[in-house]
Amino acid sequence: MVPEMAEVLAAGELTLRLLEPADHAELHAIFSDPRTHTIGSGPVRDAEETRQWLDRRRVRRTEHGVAWYAVRRPDGSMIGTAGLLIGRTEPHPEIGFEIRHQDQRRGFGTAAAMAVVAEAYRAGFEQVWATVRPWNVGSLRALDRVGFRPQRVERDEHGELICLLHRATVA
Ligand SMILES: CC(C)(COP(=O)(O)OP(=O)(O)OC[C@H]1O[C@@H](n2cnc3c(N)ncnc32)[C@H](O)[C@@H]1OP(=O)(O)O)[C@@H](O)C(=O)NCCC(=O)NCCS
Repeated sequence: MVPEMAEVLAAGELTLRLLEPADHAELHAIFSDPRTHTIGSGPVRDAEETRQWLDRRRVRRTEHGVAWYAVRRPDGSMIGTAGLLIGRTEPHPEIGFEIRHQDQRRGFGTAAAMAVVAEAYRAGFEQVWATVRPWNVGSLRALDRVGFRPQRVERDEHGELICLLHRATVA
């Protein structure tokens, strides 16, 4: 049976709400910001690419039960996204999260990731993984705070990737 993650999650002062087509403009502002979108192939220039990514989230939710959320402040502004994907760690989901540059290092990434992981288990996933480049100190630090622990290092065309598994009880 496909897990069913909730449409809305609370994370302290933040609200995580399932991404939808109407979020496109705010999402693209984050994806196209070179100070924020330092992962993958860098900032996304083409708004259509962001639209296709958004469309794929809906398909992945139907296929695998993985949800991806807009992270919003109490005033409604979108400061980032967080969610699950099925990829390198299939059949188990992998977390992805991004907080816009001007709101980083204020605990929001950690809070959003914690909410996504808790909801993943509630919905029925048994493990949550993360894959991170060794240079991504902010991500590694936030994931450590959430309870992820390194398991192995893989390599792809962009270099090394640290694979971390979430541990419910932090050692
Ligand atoms: C990874 C990311 C989501 C973290 O979000 P954030 O809101 O800045 O994270 P937090 O404020 O919760 O920070 C958690 C810890 O990491 C530290 N940290 C955050 N960014 C850091 C950086 N660039 N360098 C060093 N430490 C950093 C914080 O100081 C904090 O440390 P503490 O535990 O000692 O207090 C954010 O840096 C980001 O969006 N990066 C670009 C996208 C990305 O890399 N996503 C992850 C892909 S695997």
